[in-house]
Amino acid sequence: FDRGALSGKRVFITAGPTREALDPVRYISNHSSGKMGYALAEAAVDAGAKVTLISGPVNLPAPQRCERVMVESAEQMLAASLKHIDECDIFIASAAVADYRPVAVAEHKLKKGNEEIMELRLVKNPDIVASVAAQPQKPFTVGFAAETRDVISYAQDKLVRKNLDLIIANDVSRSDIGFNSDDNAVTVVSHADVQQLPLCSKRRLAGKLIEIIAAHQHSSADKK
Ligand code: PMT
Repeated sequence: FDRGALSGKRVFITAGPTREALDPVRYISNHSSGKMGYALAEAAVDAGAKVTLISGPVNLPAPQRCERVMVESAEQMLAASLKHIDECDIFIASAAVADYRPVAVAEHKLKKGNEEIMELRLVKNPDIVASVAAQPQKPFTVGFAAETRDVISYAQDKLVRKNLDLIIANDVSRSDIGFNSDDNAVTVVSHADVQQLPLCSKRRLAGKLIEIIAAHQHSSADKK
């Protein structure tokens, strides 16, 4: 592992789930634990980067030598991501951001009524990684794709649609990898090729991913 691969680079990483409030005591969320994003933050620090970890609510301690910004909702994660984006060299979006949020947040706890069926109205959240990739000084932008089928083709579609430089695809239909597990197996998809990385711990995988991201970022900076 090259300890200097990211020396002098500013790396922003989103991690964990978002929580979209329904009322003061309830929210919509998902099973992301933050383990993948936190492991990436540690690996990027080890590679010499100055890291800002933008984290949804998780039960993990802040990695050492890294700045952590805690957020709850997708809108807060977007604001924290864009705040110093002009200083960012590499943006890695490992967070599992809620695609939708309730149209309105009730001021008081919602009461149980007599009706058997209750309908929720949801509105689309902003896309954080696509907003980063649309900035005039776009950093090298890396997304994740959590898919349950047609993993590679959906990832390729997100790579193009969100204007990303790389996308890391994981099959979240398997319970031994993806959400909340200690291990993961992913496929790194670039505009030129597809590279499969075998099952290993998220810590080891993070080291390999940071090496791959650093190499791609170097060659794209050379082209500019
Ligand atoms: O946290 P762990 O338990 O360790 O699990 C890790 C993980 C499975 C959550 C992680 O490896 C992963 O796949 N993260 C992305 C999950 C996801 O929401 O994927 P997606 O295919 O829905 O989104 C595609 C990309 O767009 C992602 O980079 C996501 O961060 C980004 N996105 C999505 C929606 C949105 N509103 N804003 C975004 O930035």
